[in-house]
Amino acid sequence: MTKQAVVIGVGASNGLGAALARRFAKEGLETVVSGRTREKLDLIVSEIDAAGGAARAVTADATQESDIKALFDKVAAKGEIAAVLYNAGNNAIIPFEDLTPQQFEKFWRLGPFGGFLAAKAAMPILMDQGYGSMIFTGASASMRGRPNFAHFASAKAGLRMLAQSLARTYGPQNIHVAHVIVDGVIDGERIRAIAPEYLDHLGESGSINPDEMAEAFWQVHAQPKSAWTHELDIRPFKETW
Ligand SMILES: NC(=O)c1ccc[n+]([C@@H]2O[C@H](COP(=O)([O-])OP(=O)(O)OC[C@H]3O[C@@H](n4cnc5c(N)ncnc54)[C@H](OP(=O)(O)O)[C@@H]3O)[C@@H](O)[C@H]2O)c1
Repeated sequence: MTKQAVVIGVGASNGLGAALARRFAKEGLETVVSGRTREKLDLIVSEIDAAGGAARAVTADATQESDIKALFDKVAAKGEIAAVLYNAGNNAIIPFEDLTPQQFEKFWRLGPFGGFLAAKAAMPILMDQGYGSMIFTGASASMRGRPNFAHFASAKAGLRMLAQSLARTYGPQNIHVAHVIVDGVIDGERIRAIAPEYLDHLGESGSINPDEMAEAFWQVHAQPKSAWTHELDIRPFKETW
């Protein structure tokens, strides 16, 4: 039967979500790339196809319960799910005095609430199978709140605590839950589009290569169960931390 990986939060080809999809597809898992924008997803699917892997796109808003439920219904109907990667995320610099309740809620929805919806849909399936992994993407803000990032830090910290609770609940039942802290800037489309000079200023390997980081997610997924990692942090070698 087909074994699948589901990546929630895929956008640009040069981004972590797409890199995760490519990496898990390379191992022979049929990879479901999910995000909000169909054209972006189709491009990633065609890249994976061209590289000899198998992938398909499912459009879903990670903050909508009905979308996430439909996503997992579709995936489960096709076969087992070896890995679920909750990568959806966004960021913005917003001074606290300007931060609106709507903005705060939007970040919370994409962080812990979206992670919760994905876990609610995924865990019964993984439990039925008796195995599987679920890995969440965090950020430096998972660990500390900086000025102008109250919305983002509280969302990422909440997502981290969700992951810990899930790990302690489902680990003993052979479901590997992990959280990866991205402690640096990703050299991807998101930052390239708004601040290419900043990435250039960081120099060679001063920002995180998405494909190199995706390798770490795969290694966590592939760990034997006597030696599981729950949390991993990744930063460029010259990051100040
Ligand atoms: N970029 C960085 O420097 C950095 C640093 C630390 C941590 N991170 C974390 O790393 C992860 C990946 O970041 P990335 O910058 O490389 O981006 P990415 O993986 O290329 O894309 C993340 C995707 O999340 C999607 N998304 C946003 N709202 C969504 C929603 N409601 N439903 C479904 N998908 C949604 C976006 O879709 P659209 O394309 O439709 O907008 C975006 O494509 C995120 O969790 C981020 O918080 C990034």
